[in-house]
Amino acid sequence: MKQLGLNGLLISFLFLVSCSDADHESNTEVNNAEIQEVKSDETTGEVAYLDLGMKYVQQTQQVLAKNLVHQINTNGTVKAFSYCSAEAYPLTDSMATALNAQIKRVSDQPRNPANRANEKEANYIENAKETLLAGGKIKPEVHEMDDKMVGYYPILTNGLCMQCHGNKTTQISSETMAAIQETYPEDKAIGYLVNELRGIWVVEMNKQ
Ligand code: HEC
Repeated sequence: MKQLGLNGLLISFLFLVSCSDADHESNTEVNNAEIQEVKSDETTGEVAYLDLGMKYVQQTQQVLAKNLVHQINTNGTVKAFSYCSAEAYPLTDSMATALNAQIKRVSDQPRNPANRANEKEANYIENAKETLLAGGKIKPEVHEMDDKMVGYYPILTNGLCMQCHGNKTTQISSETMAAIQETYPEDKAIGYLVNELRGIWVVEMNKQ
């Protein structure tokens, strides 16, 4: 029974994060043709980098979503942690090379202290949270930093996230809660509602 409900959630999750070709076998590979297209379209520098970073984020999310489905289906929620952990990142190495870019996720309320937002990132998050609270729409941003273009892309929660980031008594199972506390004793990433800002993707792109 539990499994059924979860699968329903997974389907909606895939729908949300994987820009429509989740069933594509090769969706973990970077579509170089598409990326080239964005680059050559570069009329106004900023906008092109924003789009380039967005493509990278979308590709990465597809890899992560695939992993999550696989992990939950084979090992259950507790072991599915690798979806959100650094282990998923080697899968995105080919993208890093193809795009000449680095990607990470950070939060103002990190589960893993290594994912804590720096001052600049935290500023973006704070402003975005205020905008969301006021009913506004939040937008990704790109900033020039030294020799890099750095893009910030908001990560919002949906129903699926609740089993690991939601209410600790009503949404996170005691088994999952125990695993969280054991692995992440300084966890700050519970108590979220759906459609809240969980953190941001940070994409560092080399200037072309
Ligand atoms: C199966 C449990 C699980 C689910 C489901 C889950 N997460 Fe996580 N999440 C984790 C774990 C564990 C970490 C810590 C990863 C690490 O060590 O880097 C994490 C970390 C993160 C981070 C990085 C910042 C931090 O807190 O360390 C973000 C952002 C995040 N999750 C967003 C989401 C979103 C959005 C969803 C729903 C689409 C989601 N997560 C669903 C377990 C989960």
